[in-house]
Amino acid sequence: MNLTHRPRRLRQDGVRGLVSETSLEPADLIAPVFIDATTDERIPIESMPGHERVPIDESVARVEEILETGVEAVMLFGIPIAKDAQGSRAWADDGVVQEATRRITAETDAYVITDACLCEYTDHGHCGALEDELRGEAGHDHSEGCAHEPTMTVDNDATLESLERIAVSHAEAGADMIAPSGMMDGMVAAIREGLDREGFEHVPIMSYAAKYESAFYGPFRDAADGAPAFGNRRHYQMDPANAREAMREVRLDAEQGADVLMVKPALPYLDIVNDLRREFDHPIAAYNVSGEYAMLHAAAEKGWLDLEEVALESLLSIKRAGADLILTYFAEDVAQGLTAGR
Ligand code: PBG
Repeated sequence: MNLTHRPRRLRQDGVRGLVSETSLEPADLIAPVFIDATTDERIPIESMPGHERVPIDESVARVEEILETGVEAVMLFGIPIAKDAQGSRAWADDGVVQEATRRITAETDAYVITDACLCEYTDHGHCGALEDELRGEAGHDHSEGCAHEPTMTVDNDATLESLERIAVSHAEAGADMIAPSGMMDGMVAAIREGLDREGFEHVPIMSYAAKYESAFYGPFRDAADGAPAFGNRRHYQMDPANAREAMREVRLDAEQGADVLMVKPALPYLDIVNDLRREFDHPIAAYNVSGEYAMLHAAAEKGWLDLEEVALESLLSIKRAGADLILTYFAEDVAQGLTAGR
């Protein structure tokens, strides 16, 4: 047969690498780490095989393990010794993330990104102070379907002040980059102002710019002990049905000075990653979240999928869609595989 076009010509061994459009490098990956101030032993996270809550004393050792695989950046989440209605341990100078950041930046070369949010620090598990807590009704038990539940909402502007304090305290501890994940309106501007005022003009902000209200966060909420005690996050995180709204939301963060724009979750939202890639010149990040990790592990455990291959294919797809950086619980394993395969 005399076919002019035979795309298969370029799929032969030897040439595949030359015509490959997308590559994945260990340096593209950011490994999330959970630091737990309530423990002095590592605690495995059941729904995220291979991941643990790590005591502050082990934070440096944990990050060194990650660096050995070729991954250069970590994202720190903290589980505090105590929670309250305002989440005040989130900006404490001796808080869990501050303490771990101080040690990690002093003793390793890791690039340390800190998650700036309140849900792991508030006793109600929401990403900011609640309006009725601020009205002086703190201590009220919302868990039993009380009358507040339908109207309960996070106070946006009061939360901005807390986020600014958190960001400054992280930068003071040595954080290289701040990543606000609370989806409050104006959060990037508030954090930028605080950082600049305190002399941290050089510290970039990676905004969780389009963060969806997703059921794929389930395992993380176990890991970081940050599930809302009642209600849901629908009134601040984005509706999975909306794509145009994501552009508006992201544009606002860009205008406020976000340096890196993130989409979260990753795989169910690759269209959004691609929209951002086409619309913005910023580096685009995607968060391959806990549920995306857990489901591949569960299928692999049953023998239904090859874990290494589906992990690699997932991350490659996220890059192909347009992400420059990927936050992923597969970071170490995939980096190790990439380095070994060279
Ligand atoms: C906290 C935060 C969450 C995640 C990252 N930061 C949880 C949430 O919004 O409920 C999820 C990460 C994951 O699932 O891996 N605001």
